[in-house]
Amino acid sequence: MRVLMTGTSGLVGHDLWPILSADGHDVWGIGRKKPDFVNFTQWRSGDIADQEATVKSIERINPDCVIHLAALSNPDDCERDPETAYKANALGTRNIALACQKFDTDMVYVSTDQVFNGKKKTPYRENDPVDPVNTYGQTKVWGENFTRDLLRRFYIVRTALVFGTSRPTFVPRVARAAATGETVVAATDIVNSPTYSKDLAKALSFLIKTGAYGTYHIANEGHCNRYELSQFIAESLGAKLTFIKKGSSESLKLPAKRPGFSPIENFIWNLQGFPKMRTWQEAVLDFLEELPE
Ligand SMILES: NC(=O)c1ccc[n+]([C@@H]2O[C@H](COP(=O)([O-])OP(=O)(O)OC[C@H]3O[C@@H](n4cnc5c(N)ncnc54)[C@H](OP(=O)(O)O)[C@@H]3O)[C@@H](O)[C@H]2O)c1
Repeated sequence: MRVLMTGTSGLVGHDLWPILSADGHDVWGIGRKKPDFVNFTQWRSGDIADQEATVKSIERINPDCVIHLAALSNPDDCERDPETAYKANALGTRNIALACQKFDTDMVYVSTDQVFNGKKKTPYRENDPVDPVNTYGQTKVWGENFTRDLLRRFYIVRTALVFGTSRPTFVPRVARAAATGETVVAATDIVNSPTYSKDLAKALSFLIKTGAYGTYHIANEGHCNRYELSQFIAESLGAKLTFIKKGSSESLKLPAKRPGFSPIENFIWNLQGFPKMRTWQEAVLDFLEELPE
């Protein structure tokens, strides 16, 4: 398949590109800044918030499938700058969906566990009602709605707390702090399903070949709070736990409210009998092995 990616320079994009290429796809990218690992011949520059340019780029590349990862993905940045967040996450997604509609192209939209309000007591399934508690979640719901409203052949993939080697997120930060002794405040009331970007990338590369369109939750199996996650990382690295301080989302004074309890269950994925995602503990151990010294 000819596959076009947005968000190639991001955390997930960085791991998805080589996995799609290894799976034999003809991979292209579109974005504001070309990453070094992408050839000029497979790249078109553009801002997804620009409708005309986005549609033109997709027409030129003529992909079989667009995997749309680009977003303002930091909830606190979205809270501080809602206009940019809505432009990238809502309008940008609408533009990609409009182009896919026009050229009859499959689309994958990567969304988030932060579309949920955190009030459920058990992990969220795909058809649980959305009710975001912050701007990021709201913009991603807009993106989901545009995708569903404009297309018949789409996959919406919600994932959560992604970690990988290309950008410092919570998991690599704790791993580094385990070595330096720098204090990490870990909230016990933020619970989600940590997901290794490589595992998500493999799942996306698999999904696009199935034609089993619809909404999916794809995360590493299981869930934990940030304290439990930090403890697991420290113990796996043989570090003392003293650098980890128990906290709450309130004590962190984050600009964006968090849903709190937002684990996602890979319900439809497992029901379909697709290759089971490994547990978050297995994924974290693998990630720690790969983390550069
Ligand atoms: N990271 C997580 O924990 C997490 C969890 C759940 C869901 N997700 C979702 O997964 C997807 C990928 O996340 P990620 O962590 O890989 O993102 P990321 O590392 O923050 O990268 C974001 C990407 O989006 C691009 N982008 C942003 N605004 C753009 C615009 N207006 N036009 C073109 N490109 C634009 C950026 O390109 P530039 O280089 O041009 O800035 C970058 O490549 C996102 O949709 C996110 O909402 C992420």
